[in-house]
Amino acid sequence: MRADRLEWEKRLLADDGPLRKIAREVKGPFHVMFPEQIIENIRGFQNAFAGSGVDGLIYYGKKANKSACVTAACAKAGAGVDVASAGELESALRTGIRGTDVMVTGPAKSDELLLLATDVNATIAIDGPGELDRLGYLVHHRGSGAPARIVLRVLPADSTSRFGMTGAELDSVWDRLDPAAVRLRGFSFHLGGYGVAPRAELAASLIDRCLDARAHGHDADLLSIGGGFSVNYLAAEQWEAFLDGANPSWFHGGHAFSRDSYYPYHSPSPGPAMLTAILEYDGLGDRLRAENIRLAIEPGRALLDRAGSTVFRVQGIKTREAEGIPYDILTVDGTSLSLSEQWFNTEYLPDPVIWPERNGSTTPTCVGGASCLESDMLSWRRIPLPRAAVVDDLLVYPNTAGYQMDSNESEFHELPVPPKVVLSYSAGGPQFDCVREPDPRDARRGITSPTRAPRSS
Ligand SMILES: Cc1ncc(COP(=O)(O)O)c(C=O)c1O
Repeated sequence: MRADRLEWEKRLLADDGPLRKIAREVKGPFHVMFPEQIIENIRGFQNAFAGSGVDGLIYYGKKANKSACVTAACAKAGAGVDVASAGELESALRTGIRGTDVMVTGPAKSDELLLLATDVNATIAIDGPGELDRLGYLVHHRGSGAPARIVLRVLPADSTSRFGMTGAELDSVWDRLDPAAVRLRGFSFHLGGYGVAPRAELAASLIDRCLDARAHGHDADLLSIGGGFSVNYLAAEQWEAFLDGANPSWFHGGHAFSRDSYYPYHSPSPGPAMLTAILEYDGLGDRLRAENIRLAIEPGRALLDRAGSTVFRVQGIKTREAEGIPYDILTVDGTSLSLSEQWFNTEYLPDPVIWPERNGSTTPTCVGGASCLESDMLSWRRIPLPRAAVVDDLLVYPNTAGYQMDSNESEFHELPVPPKVVLSYSAGGPQFDCVREPDPRDARRGITSPTRAPRSS
């Protein structure tokens, strides 16, 4: 965890914080979520738009975390949601998101999703000519109702992505746009990587496409530049120290990672600062304002920065040796499926905190999961924990809300999926109110479990 813990993280880790009580009630690993941080992150992006005078729309990339508290925070802070399935759309609506504040992305969307999105007036990012034709057919055959609101997703030139429409497909799209079935709001894209210039340059080129669309009689006043806003997980020195030391002898079993496979854990201009840099790049913001074009963004990870942590209990300890130096291997009560980064040929770099925090002697420590898989490691590297762990200690992995928590989780080994516990400050006190979220699968089946909610002082 970075030295500059946020106030809520300090309170979480305090000796009289809620961790012990939640751990006792949950009896297994769990995630904590602090939605007030999400609201603060949304405000950061809103301020970046306000600073540039560009009319901006924020759609939270819902795949980054399923928790209902995230979309509820979006509804509270005036952000919309980007979804890619009917389930995600329905969950967003259940937590107070209006249909008009939903962007639907994803390829070859199901008929169910296209119709639901049309009915609630969401904006649909059309991924190809076939999908556009199918949407037109569905809208015609559903009877009455407004046309579907769409943007056309663009395949960037030179890209090998499987998503989006080619330049030739876009050039010849006009005959396919039946005004009784669809209303063209503009264009969208999503790029891999975290570069400012590629996003700003592609957005600038799409201003011309908007003007062309207007000449063909469409509104075309919206450009969505997708997500990919970076997160600053580590200070520059920590990131450089890691890259310098990251050779196989540092990792359990000589595990080797390619340097290119790591997420860029340090970012000098994360989240809103990256948006500002895009808007300032080559006068993009000025051009958008001049042409009355709104800019939409779909950040997932960046809206969740520092908004959650994942907690495991130590249930076993072994000591091994590498190059004559002993180190501990901990086994925790969950699996690395709750720390997704570990499944993408990379390592989740923010160090876990050993709790309770006590003085001791620095102990190199790797962390394994409770499954029978050799590869089920939460931390391959030997982390210099400030003391040796003992059974029943907790390991708190910080900043896990963005993708780490639940994109890979399953009931592998019939281990329960870790619940999410939502924290909010108690009125007038230094402590938290803690509410355990119902399992989203139960919510879909109409089962509620409020009695399982631990409250903590
Ligand atoms: C279309 C689209 N929008 C938004 C996102 C969210 O990206 P990030 O979490 O990196 O901001 C993704 C991620 O894959 C995406 O495919």
